[in-house]
Amino acid sequence: MYKDKPVKPVRYIDRDSRMNYMSAQYDNGNLVEDEECEVEHGLTIIQACEVVGVEVPRFCYHERLAIAGNCRMCLVEVEGGPPKPVASCAMPVAEGMVIHTDTPKVKKAREGVLEFLLINHPLDCPICDQGGECDLQDITMAYGKGISRLDEHKRAVPKKHFGPLIGTAMNRCIHCTRCVRFLSDVAGTNELGGIGRGENIEISTYIKRHISSELSGNIIDLCPVGALTSKPYSFTARPWELSHCETIDVLDAVGSSIRVDYRGLEVMRILPRLSEEVNEEWISDKTRFAYDGLKVQRLDQPYVKKDGKLAPVDWNEALTVAAKKLKNTKSNKIAAIAGDLADCESMLLLKEVMQKLGSGNIDCRQDGAKLIPNNRGSYVFNTTIEGIENADLCLLINTNPRIEAPIINARLRKRYLQGNFTIANIGPNLEYLYNVERLGDGPNVLKEIEEGNHKFCELLSAAQNPMLIIGQDALIRDDSESVLALAGKIAEKFNMIRDDWNGFNVLHKAAARVGGLDIGFVPSKGGKDINQMLKQAESGEIEVVYLLGADEIDISKLESTFVIYQGHHGDRGAHIADVILPGAAYTEKYATYVNTEGRVQRTNLAVFPPGEAKEDWLIIKNLSQYLGLSLLYDNLFDVRKKLYTIGPQFRDADQVVKNKWVPITCDEIKLIAYLVYFERKVIGAIQLRHGPSVVGPFGLLQPFADAIKLIIKEPIIPFRANTILFIMAPMLTFILALISWAVIPFGAEIITENGQQVIIPKVIANINVGVLYVLAISSLGIYGIIIAGWSSNSNYAFLGAIRSAAQMISYEVSIGLIVATVVITTGTLNLAEMVVAKHNMPFWIDLLMMPIGIIFFISLLAETNRHPFDLPEAEAELVSGYNVEYSSMPFALFFLGEYANMILASAVMTIFFLGGWYPPLELSLLYKIPVNDLIFPLFVHDGEETIEPISGLPDIKCYSIDGLISIVQKAKDSGINAVAIFPVVDSKLKSEKAEEAYNPDNLICKAIHAVKSKVLDIGIIADIALDPYTTHGHDGILKDGKMDVENDETVSILCKQALVLAKAGCDIVAPSDMMDGRIGKIRKTLDDNNFQNVSILSYAVKYCSSFYAPFRQVVGSCASSNFIDKSGYQMDYRNAREAICEIEMDINEGADFIMIKPGMPYLDIIKTASDKFNFPIFAYQVSGEYAMIKAAANNGWLDYNRVIYESLIGFKRAGASAIFTYAALDVAKNLVST
Ligand code: SF4
Ligand code: FES
Repeated sequence: MYKDKPVKPVRYIDRDSRMNYMSAQYDNGNLVEDEECEVEHGLTIIQACEVVGVEVPRFCYHERLAIAGNCRMCLVEVEGGPPKPVASCAMPVAEGMVIHTDTPKVKKAREGVLEFLLINHPLDCPICDQGGECDLQDITMAYGKGISRLDEHKRAVPKKHFGPLIGTAMNRCIHCTRCVRFLSDVAGTNELGGIGRGENIEISTYIKRHISSELSGNIIDLCPVGALTSKPYSFTARPWELSHCETIDVLDAVGSSIRVDYRGLEVMRILPRLSEEVNEEWISDKTRFAYDGLKVQRLDQPYVKKDGKLAPVDWNEALTVAAKKLKNTKSNKIAAIAGDLADCESMLLLKEVMQKLGSGNIDCRQDGAKLIPNNRGSYVFNTTIEGIENADLCLLINTNPRIEAPIINARLRKRYLQGNFTIANIGPNLEYLYNVERLGDGPNVLKEIEEGNHKFCELLSAAQNPMLIIGQDALIRDDSESVLALAGKIAEKFNMIRDDWNGFNVLHKAAARVGGLDIGFVPSKGGKDINQMLKQAESGEIEVVYLLGADEIDISKLESTFVIYQGHHGDRGAHIADVILPGAAYTEKYATYVNTEGRVQRTNLAVFPPGEAKEDWLIIKNLSQYLGLSLLYDNLFDVRKKLYTIGPQFRDADQVVKNKWVPITCDEIKLIAYLVYFERKVIGAIQLRHGPSVVGPFGLLQPFADAIKLIIKEPIIPFRANTILFIMAPMLTFILALISWAVIPFGAEIITENGQQVIIPKVIANINVGVLYVLAISSLGIYGIIIAGWSSNSNYAFLGAIRSAAQMISYEVSIGLIVATVVITTGTLNLAEMVVAKHNMPFWIDLLMMPIGIIFFISLLAETNRHPFDLPEAEAELVSGYNVEYSSMPFALFFLGEYANMILASAVMTIFFLGGWYPPLELSLLYKIPVNDLIFPLFVHDGEETIEPISGLPDIKCYSIDGLISIVQKAKDSGINAVAIFPVVDSKLKSEKAEEAYNPDNLICKAIHAVKSKVLDIGIIADIALDPYTTHGHDGILKDGKMDVENDETVSILCKQALVLAKAGCDIVAPSDMMDGRIGKIRKTLDDNNFQNVSILSYAVKYCSSFYAPFRQVVGSCASSNFIDKSGYQMDYRNAREAICEIEMDINEGADFIMIKPGMPYLDIIKTASDKFNFPIFAYQVSGEYAMIKAAANNGWLDYNRVIYESLIGFKRAGASAIFTYAALDVAKNLVST
């Protein structure tokens, strides 16, 4: 662990707030190099050495614990300091200090320390669980003497009983006191200490108690020897046998970064990973030790209840039964509940399935918490976990972070120990690990604080950065809506909501909750929430319930319900299930979660799900096929693409997106009341009267009184009126007003992040003649008016109707002309397409159209009889007009129809002149290259050098596996989500038949495996081609050594290659285009081996390779002739039509994506293919093209930034979904400006 470094003294030369120091490199005692560095003021010598990269061995020192200075392993020599070596962990740096870390004196001192430590340390390394990862072992190897001069009896210390989690072998303890300091400083439980003195010192709990801290497992990691070990893990594995998978924990809503160590298909242990923003380097005991539960009571095959008993069945039968039941049940009698561990992908798919089935009965709040789904700021931990350290006051509302989120509690304690941090609590009297001022119990305390009547308000007002944390228990009460609203008001009142600070925090307990709310897994309009669902399930009104891992509900209410349970354990939900669909646990799938801060995190697959269990999103996708529903997702990548459209948080994994604060109050109702009051006053003033505002304070309840009056009043039908027509007229007006809405893309949403305008038209009927439909249907409204006037048998009414109709028709002339202008400028009659067209339109056109917009607005006022156009008819006074004879509900229908028409007119105007719900500025002025859509091609070699240039292309690099990991990490950190890896294989491994291509230990497999295990959540695309592995450099296996390709043999090798790549962890395999039938056969091979989630990118590179010649010349290849023939270097097609046919064939065979390569010359084919197939088409800015741009830029012939930018934008505009480009990192780092 610690390497023996050359002597590297550190010399401090001044004393500012930041200190300069010199470090000098010695070789055999001779000074060879000087360099000047800076360190923060106040660092200790060991910390300063770390800053300059000099390792100093240590046992007791730990950067997150108080300094003890008791092991003396960190001794260094300080020139001009004490004559003996000093403990570098305990001595701060000072001016003029010259430090020697590896002089003979230091070496001797270290050897002496180790010799003393080993006097009593047993030589039981072969049976010690710490073996292989023991600091004492490593440091002794690096710094020890190799022999011991002491021959004493070793002392014996009995084992301590620290509880079921921590095993002890106290003979091995070296008394570094890390464990003692952790429990007293970080965990705050003060449960360990040293008893006895001198040789008899022992680390022990007080009076043989067990350790009760919820963070106790961390002392196992901290112990530098094997004195403290994990009891559940003891003697089960050796560290070198284990493979590692970096992922996140989902057992609470913190999302701690963890490493899963596994052997074969078994998870052996869970360790923390460093994440400064979330868990630093600690994890809770639940996170660390819960893995044993992954091995018991697992659901490993589907079950269906037969004759009252669950019987094992195959997937086909289980899905058939589930689908049949869902199909045969009325949509309002179906419900779905997502549990605490459900991932975002599966919730998204289940929500879509439920929507397609027509049911809005979904809920992810299985505890019934009254969280507000569409107000993100009101349900996340806005301050962030790291942000706690900037707070100076914290108000806990009915929460016990010690149990609900021990990691957050440790942060609170850390902040508390720094001082100047007041913590108060409203709720039960609990034992926290810091001093908490009790304010009381109950919402009345909140009310007092909100009103400023509580003594705590003084502290709140004085705090600079106050925060509050509201727990889930506060949100499951009957009055939780008002509790949440009060908390929101307190946050607003006491300076918690500012541009630079948000102190309003909701602490969740479940990993699935924030993700579920983000996705909108909550009842849609008319849908039932969890409490209503359970109630209706109990009464039999809901007949089928789909439990997505939902176990923490009152299952007794589901006894008479048909339950479909999807989950990974035989938990409570499974016990009452009629169909069980076995899913995957968090260590067995690639899935997305959102933690309590709103941070999107991803789990990685460490081991495969047991038996026939599958990833959860895949189960729902399969079920949708049995239901005959078409969900447009073929792989996880597609589902995640959909997630990206839901909110910006899903695009930036591991980031916290700042949430806009929307007040959590009933202020909207107040606002409506004010508006009503205002409108009535204005109308009253215009009409020189006060208006009928007499009900309630300021007449605010008048509308309710009007509504009640209209409903309960008996309708009067005038004498000799035509009753049928008289009743039909208002209904006609009302219905026509409503059905006009069918074509309005009310929820239309533009996704600009792809650089491509995609519209999600939340519209009932997305017809191509939407504009005409609106005009036609709304014009029919005239008949309602005319019929109303005529059927009333009243001259007044009839004249009023004629006048109203005449007014409408006259203004339709101006409206018609304006509509024609809008249609001509946008080129479409489809309202959804019009939104897209408006976004693409230069802004100045919108400005030019504003005058006609104003005329349009005036015309709409007239059309809808608004002020001042209602005055000629005096419609508001009912003294004249078509509806003069109407009363009660028939009159109300006219009234409602009119309002529906007003809102319709507003929506149409918004689309015509503002581009729908988004302002027209956004796209026209800023066109960004979306980093998400870039794929970084990388070459890997099996040589020694970390980075080598590719032959003939000096600007494109080839990496060793270590180099590859670091460049991929860099790419990931810059926002790139996928890389393509190509092997450059040692010529010794090449052969005629390319056997190395499907060797599971070949270079590319090793590279994929290494990248997947080291870089979290990166997509990998791997080439399926034989040319890197063959001696003849050809893509296929040759017939009799000639240049003819043996198609079937080559395809069978490609299938084997695809399989080893999939097993290595590749996400997308990319077979090149040469062989017939390759896509279908590879798809079948992958499916047969359970790799349905591995996608196929058809590498249609050479379909158009006749145009490729200029690029080949650049890279030194020969130009190909232009004919359809496999005997040449590549398959060539004479024209785009043939290329398009081939692409269609690949799509039909099962390709998930199509590649057009090289991109630049074939923009027309990209465009044609993307228009024609509505299918993800990728473009490749090939090495030759990139090299040309780079070479020309290096010579000053062109501007690299501009040309790369324009070429990538060109691909996007042509319709490419993703682009392979060697400039990906430059774009991601914003070196290529937009
Ligand atoms: S048990 Fe381990 S961590 Fe605790 S004092 Fe002993 S060696 Fe240090
Ligand atoms: S690390 Fe400095 S005395 Fe232990």
